[in-house]
Amino acid sequence: MAHLELCAPCVFALEAVVSREIKALGFVVNKVEDGRVYFLSDEYGIARANLWLRTADRVLLKIGEFYATSFEELFENTKSLPWDEWIPKEGSFPAAKASSVRSKLFSTSDIQSIVKKAVVEKLKEKYRINWFSECGASYPIHIFVFKDKVTIYLDTSGVSLHKRGYREIGSPAPIRETLAAALVSLTPWKEGRLLIDPFCGSGTIPIEAALKGLNIAPGLKRSFVSEKWFRIPEKLWDRARQEAQDSIKYDNDIRIQGYDIDDKVIKIARSNAKKAGVEDYIHFQQRDVRDFSSKEKYGFIVTNPPYGERLEDIKTVEQLYKDMGKVFSTLDTWSFYILTAHDGFERYFGRKADKKRKLYNGMMKTDLYQYFGPKPPKKDTID
Ligand SMILES: C[S@@+](CC[C@H](N)C(=O)[O-])C[C@H]1O[C@@H](n2cnc3c(N)ncnc32)[C@H](O)[C@@H]1O
Repeated sequence: MAHLELCAPCVFALEAVVSREIKALGFVVNKVEDGRVYFLSDEYGIARANLWLRTADRVLLKIGEFYATSFEELFENTKSLPWDEWIPKEGSFPAAKASSVRSKLFSTSDIQSIVKKAVVEKLKEKYRINWFSECGASYPIHIFVFKDKVTIYLDTSGVSLHKRGYREIGSPAPIRETLAAALVSLTPWKEGRLLIDPFCGSGTIPIEAALKGLNIAPGLKRSFVSEKWFRIPEKLWDRARQEAQDSIKYDNDIRIQGYDIDDKVIKIARSNAKKAGVEDYIHFQQRDVRDFSSKEKYGFIVTNPPYGERLEDIKTVEQLYKDMGKVFSTLDTWSFYILTAHDGFERYFGRKADKKRKLYNGMMKTDLYQYFGPKPPKKDTID
């Protein structure tokens, strides 16, 4: 097994969460940058990382890194990389994505076409052919240029990892699955404790919590481009999937509830939970947050309420936050984790957060307002 450098790109501010997940899988994190966590592994690790990472966007395999300030340098350096170690004669290798920040080479479409040409030239020499059918497995190339340093990867995931395969139909404003998983990871919630999302929409937060609570690998129900790569034989994928299957803890005491004022989205949430295989672990019900009450203690509320996208909605949302504040004030042993883009949230909710954390929901800056409840007393071990 080769020693490979992998990279897990993620939403800004989630690097620590992604690093923690990568380490928990037993990989060595060797570098963390804004929106990127680098780690070392091998071919089997590519399969495991894709199946298990809950909060990363994808898993990239680093092919090479060099400085380039001209297209000539970009071409020559790209051509010198060992592309033939990964891409076979019939492989398809689109220059799928390029980004450039603070660099002389800034036209991403030119960067993509130069890289493509350089890879073609390299493979022409290696395979002694002039024409590539590109009818085989896909090897998408990703190029990142930052301050003239070019890093080139093959994307091992294909479709972004937030697409778990359970959310075919969504509510109007669903949170990304990776971000929902991150919100759950940022709480100390674990099996045996109640977790509620009172604005659950299509159910993403409850579903991600259930997947985590049952130790279900989020990628088990989907496929990845690198499943067709000759360097990662089918038996490695089978082994990784079997390991994931055997790790599921169906007997865990999972107590999750999802509510929403909109009956239609509750139906969608139930259908999504079914597709994710966790419908037996979540209770979904239509309910206005204003009618919420609970006799339970030490529960968690993890949620992203409406934030008032349009100006005319803002007043309604502010009133909603006030009402939430009142309703939640009766839950004095509970912890709240509330994600919103509305800057004045604390003012309307009526309580200053114990901790505020900046997070990005897609391109939108949001804050996670965290209110920590007391820890439950330790169970008496003496009869
Ligand atoms: C930002 S969305 C939540 C999206 C959800 N996390 C998902 O992944 O689909 C906010 C949700 O709050 C619901 N909502 C609005 N007012 C409500 C209220 N008073 N009580 C309960 N739910 C409400 C909306 O129907 C909407 O589904």
